[in-house]
Amino acid sequence: MAESPVKVNLPGDAPASPSPEDQKKMEAAYNQMKRKMAISEMGKAIKHKIMVLSGKGGVGKSTVATGLALSLAQQGLKVGLLDIDITGPNVPKMMGLDGRRLNVEAGRIHPAEGHLGVKVISMAFLLEDEDTPVVWRGPIKLGAIQQFIGDVEWGNLDYLIIDFPPGTSDEPLTVAQNLPDIDGMVIVTTPQDVALMDSRKSITFANSLKVDVIGVIENMSGYTIRGKAPAGVELELAAPGGKTIAITADGDGNWSGTLDIFKAGGGEKTAIEFGVPFLGKIPFDPGFVRGGDDGVHRIVSEPEGSSSIAFGEVVTQIQTIVETDSAGSSLEII
Ligand SMILES: Nc1ncnc2c1ncn2[C@@H]1O[C@H](COP(=O)(O)OP(=O)(O)OP(=O)(O)O)[C@@H](O)[C@H]1O
Ligand SMILES: [Mg+2]
Repeated sequence: MAESPVKVNLPGDAPASPSPEDQKKMEAAYNQMKRKMAISEMGKAIKHKIMVLSGKGGVGKSTVATGLALSLAQQGLKVGLLDIDITGPNVPKMMGLDGRRLNVEAGRIHPAEGHLGVKVISMAFLLEDEDTPVVWRGPIKLGAIQQFIGDVEWGNLDYLIIDFPPGTSDEPLTVAQNLPDIDGMVIVTTPQDVALMDSRKSITFANSLKVDVIGVIENMSGYTIRGKAPAGVELELAAPGGKTIAITADGDGNWSGTLDIFKAGGGEKTAIEFGVPFLGKIPFDPGFVRGGDDGVHRIVSEPEGSSSIAFGEVVTQIQTIVETDSAGSSLEII
C-alpha cells in the first residue's frame, strides 16, 4: 500500500488553514487577551476602587454602597457602582433603574445612568424576570463577573464602588483576582455585639484576598426622633432596655432624642479591636426602606438630611484614607 505523502510547509507556502476547533481556541485566546488589555486600561481610567462587604446578610451593604456612590457624586465626582449580587436586585431599585436590562453595543457593555449621574452595572440587569431566582453554576457566575470587569465601558471614573452578596463567597475573590489596584474593602456592620464576630470573618477574609481594609462603617446606628414641646420643657424618653433618656426642648420648643434600638458601638469596637479605621455611623432611618421601595435613595430625596450628612462624613474619611495614602490597613489576624 502506498504511503500518503507527508506535507511539509516550505517557506512561501500558504499556511495550512486551522481546524474549526483551533479557530475557536484562537478566538477565545484573542478575546481573553482583549479583555486583559481592557482591564489594564480600566485600572488606569478608574482612580479608586472600593469593595463593600459584610460578614452577614441584611446589614445594609447595598444601602451603604449606593449611599457612598451617591455621596461621592454629590461632590461632583464621576462615580460607578458595580452590583455583583445576583440574588437581590436592590441596587437598581435604589438607583431608580428598576427593570433595566443590560445594554450591549458592539460587544461592549454600557452602564445605565442612575441618580446624580452614577453609572450602574448590576447582575440584576441580566435577570429575565426579577421574581425568578437565578441559579447559576459557579463557573458561569464567575465568568459573568469577569465580563462585568473587562467588558464594561466605564470611561474615566474617580470612584468605582463594588457591592457584593453577604459573606465570604467566591464573588469578592474573583473581583480581587481580576481587578487591578483595588484600594481596599469597606466592612459594613450593625451595632450589635454579634457584629464583632461577623466582622472578624470579613477582616480575616480581606487578608486572605490580600485586599486592604479601609475601615468599618456602623449602619442602623441609633434612631433619632424629634418633636415639639413648650420651650425649655424637660421630657423623659422611654428607651429600649428599660432605660430613660432625659431631654430638654430648646428655645424654639424643638426636641430630639436618639434611641440605640440595636444596642450601640459594635462597629467602633470592631475597628478598635482589629486596629482598622472606624469610618463612622449611618443612623437608622426609615427613609432608607421607603427609598428602596419607591426608587429614590435617601440621599437623593433628602440631600440635606441627617442621613446624607452622615454619609458625607463617612465619605470624607474614606477619601482621606485612599487619596492621601493609597493603602489602607493590612493586618495579620492570628
Ligand atoms: N440605616 C438604615 N436604616 C433603616 N433601614 C435600613 C438602613 N440600612 C438598610 N436598611 C434597610 O435594611 C434592609 C436591608 O438593607 P440592604 O439590602 O442594603 O442590606 P444588604 O446587607 O445589602 O442585604 P443582603 O445581604 O441581602 O445583600 C433594606 O430594607 C434597607 O432599606
Ligand atoms: Mg445587598
